[in-house]
Amino acid sequence: MQQNIIDWYEANGRDLPWRQPDFTPWGALVSEFMLQQTPVARVIPRLNEWLQRWPTPADLAAAPAGDAVRAWANLGYPRRALWLHACAVTITRDFGGVVPSDVDSLLSLPGVGSYTARAVAVFMFGAHEPVVDTNIRRVIARHTLGQAEPGPPREKSDMEAMRALLPGPERSPTFNIGVMELGALVCTARNPRCEECPIRDTCAWRAAGYPAHDGPTKARQKKYEGSDRQARGAILAVLRASSVAVAQSDLDDAWPDAAGRGRALAGLLKDGLVELTNVGTLTLPS
Ligand code: ADE
Repeated sequence: MQQNIIDWYEANGRDLPWRQPDFTPWGALVSEFMLQQTPVARVIPRLNEWLQRWPTPADLAAAPAGDAVRAWANLGYPRRALWLHACAVTITRDFGGVVPSDVDSLLSLPGVGSYTARAVAVFMFGAHEPVVDTNIRRVIARHTLGQAEPGPPREKSDMEAMRALLPGPERSPTFNIGVMELGALVCTARNPRCEECPIRDTCAWRAAGYPAHDGPTKARQKKYEGSDRQARGAILAVLRASSVAVAQSDLDDAWPDAAGRGRALAGLLKDGLVELTNVGTLTLPS
């Protein structure tokens, strides 16, 4: 099963920027942050700009956090830009400007969780560790458990399930990325392409006749239209477009509903995405 996935990946894996041989660990950290909640096609242009501008952690650490928030542009969930900036500062201060290679050090970085730490350690440094994202969880649910969809995420047991599938240390990084790619391209949430699947012969879900999902359905993502998240985006867009501090009244047109605007601004201030100057105007963080 492992070698089938590795062979399939080597023939069918996409040629994505973070898979180029000269891609740096810093690039991998940036790309994993961006990919957490944003599709590949939207990430690639922003990633290229970002790495041209800040090719090393020290380059980003030397810039104000607000520049990171501005360069985050339309990627959404902009707290990720602040986390990345904080990572750059920590790596520069505590790790000599070099992205650490071990999972524990990576986990100590601001905003870095189990997935991101292991993705960087495995894909950049060849660590023998399980990587678990939503695609991998779906492949395991189907192939190993015979279920259409995974249950709710459980970090420990999900990781153990993937660890149990890993081949030896030499092949495990390619196996990890291969399972992830299989989930992205073949074992997809809707309309999986089972006839193209390299592990269909050992798939428990296929053997069971593709039973439908019978657990709770996933919570649908909250509507973006009219949400406070959209209001926050509208306010940040005004600040990004301005090279100087902005008066609070300049936000009225960006989000006419005063109550929603107030909540959104309070949230942005609390998260550190916006700062209040001593004359009561607003800026991106310094
Ligand atoms: N390769 C490594 N990490 C990835 C991700 N998060 N999405 C797609 N391909 C990847």
